Amino acid sequence: MITATSSPNIALIKYWGNRNDALRLPAADSLSMVLDTPTVEASVELSDVFTVQSYDANGTEKPQTEQSVARLAHHFTLAKEYLVSLGRGKNLPKNISLTIRSAIPPAIGIASSAAVFSCLGEAYGALVEGRPLSREEVSILSRLGSGSAGRNSYGGFVALINHADGMASSYAEQIADEHHWPLHDIVIVPSVKEKKVGSTEGHAAAATSPLFAERLRAIPKRMRECISALRTRDFEKLQVVSEEDALEMHRVMESQNPPLQYLSDETHRILKEIEGLRKSEKLNVLHTMDAGPTVHLICAEDSVQTVTEFAEAQKNCLIFKTKTGKSSRLITS
Ligand code: PMV
Repeated sequence: MITATSSPNIALIKYWGNRNDALRLPAADSLSMVLDTPTVEASVELSDVFTVQSYDANGTEKPQTEQSVARLAHHFTLAKEYLVSLGRGKNLPKNISLTIRSAIPPAIGIASSAAVFSCLGEAYGALVEGRPLSREEVSILSRLGSGSAGRNSYGGFVALINHADGMASSYAEQIADEHHWPLHDIVIVPSVKEKKVGSTEGHAAAATSPLFAERLRAIPKRMRECISALRTRDFEKLQVVSEEDALEMHRVMESQNPPLQYLSDETHRILKEIEGLRKSEKLNVLHTMDAGPTVHLICAEDSVQTVTEFAEAQKNCLIFKTKTGKSSRLITS
């Protein structure tokens, strides 16, 4: 049995839209911070038929939807195709049975798919005989299941960079490791109701937004600014560029066809209040949201206490306290 572990990442420059949906090749580069919790563990065993068993944080079985099982099975097929293309296809199993244990509520804007598919990238990489795969190769295996999962194959701050063309043409690059700049992510979840439209369908319609082309033109400069802010630990610069990028991604989502409205009134209320507090208390905090109403408050050490108190004062919200974390990795193989 092969077991791997991983946790979500939170994007500072967001990935939205693909140049190839089937291979999850992003339309643009993206960059995120890997988080240390909540964790996911995935185990892979050889089997005659493809099966999936899933458990939540309490160990209660949570059966996957038919659609999720099909996505996991398709990812396994793509992963084998990629390994064969590397000349590493010898003795790969025809089928497997997967056990996924996740402490992350699904589909609420905390990247559970990034954590799950990066675990699987690690585990499938361990199916090959001979030399271990490189971190880039593991990133590609993970990305084939979920674009953002491709950013978990290193710890700390990780970019997913587009290269030429083909299945292997987008993979991770580490910008700085998890010790470079320990930042906190205080996550406020206003609703644990699962979203109706997931990111796979959302990416596929991104190009229908009249704002999409402009977004693609803006990203290279934002990537440079974000990398420079991270390397120099310039919080204000990081705040300006990442908030601009996240809010623009949501404008693209809201103007695509059909439109996707992931942010709720609660999200907007929280944003307004944290912006007020940031100003009055001179906090090093930035906000960002993925495909859900969940607000991520990324903050420096000097501001974490006030930001945590703010989060804990929110009524009817689930709170996660996380910080810069390590890469996805194998536990047993
Ligand atoms: O990896 P996916 O297909 O779940 O897409 C993730 C998209 C966002 O979370 C909205 C942005 C990002 O870069 O993580």
